[in-house]
Amino acid sequence: MKKLILDLDTGIDDALAIAYALGSTNEVELIGITGTYGNVIVPLGVRNALAVLHLFGRDDVPVYPGVDQPLNYVSATPWSPAAGSVAVHGADGLGGAQLPDSPRSAEAPGSAVDFIIDAARTYGSDLLIVPTGAMTTMATVLHKAPDIADCGVKITMMGGALTVPGNVSPCAEANIAQDPEAADYLFRCGARTTMVGLDVTHRTVLTYAQTARWRALGTPAGDFLADMTDYYISVYLKNQPQIGGCGLHDPLAVAAAIDPTLIDTIGVNLTVDLDGAFRGRTIGDPERLRDADKTTQVAVDVDSQTFLTRFMNRVTALAER
Ligand code: BDR
Ligand code: CA
Repeated sequence: MKKLILDLDTGIDDALAIAYALGSTNEVELIGITGTYGNVIVPLGVRNALAVLHLFGRDDVPVYPGVDQPLNYVSATPWSPAAGSVAVHGADGLGGAQLPDSPRSAEAPGSAVDFIIDAARTYGSDLLIVPTGAMTTMATVLHKAPDIADCGVKITMMGGALTVPGNVSPCAEANIAQDPEAADYLFRCGARTTMVGLDVTHRTVLTYAQTARWRALGTPAGDFLADMTDYYISVYLKNQPQIGGCGLHDPLAVAAAIDPTLIDTIGVNLTVDLDGAFRGRTIGDPERLRDADKTTQVAVDVDSQTFLTRFMNRVTALAER
């Protein structure tokens, strides 16, 4: 069975991605969660991941804190999330939904990098890695252990926008904008990546009709999922009403990693704009665009109906218990 590592800034849709992964035990074994930053700082994202695992009775899954600031971050104060991220996910990252702390602790600070390197060397092409926050930990992994790029590991990242506008600037998506240098390194280091960006995640939308099904379960997990996701939907309806609900960004990346037939991709060697108003834009790399070898597959279409049905079936079944 394939092994899975989630690299999350947990975060509302990151929490939904954990639920999807835990509901997919027939297909994949979640061997660990690593904590990046973005929606929240690393310690809070790690706290949230531990709490979500506890809610679903999965205290066996270890959580490893990752790199806690952008590669080029220079400041007297520790990195903290932008006001926009706080508005979208709430100050606690979970939209204020009540979720007790897990009784257990995370692994050692900074241990994510070596955990991922060891797992990639152990499992090779049987390992799926799904980064859904700032790409700093993944870039650090590939810089420290370049052999990982050739070991067959599959990296399916949520981030970027190739054919549609960004969501934190006219051209930048949030996860790429958190650390454009790290994302650029990831795209250009030779590692095999699949980009699941706004091109497809804004086509997989959850509405209040679906969260009502979770609330109707009458379970703590159902209430938590409904409260958290209703907050997310309300922010979307205010900020991007044309979408009609909340985008299932991070769960779609997990689903596509497990079952690539859910998406259609095209091969494009990417780079990230690092300057000025275009900073954070994912765009074709002029130096590698015509190379026969494409290291990045970009998702340009998605079977939304199949994914949404599968998402609701798996997450609802998990929340029933
Ligand atoms: C991405 O940014 C974060 O806010 C979400 O968790 C998701 O990973 C969407 O742009
Ligand atoms: Ca995320």
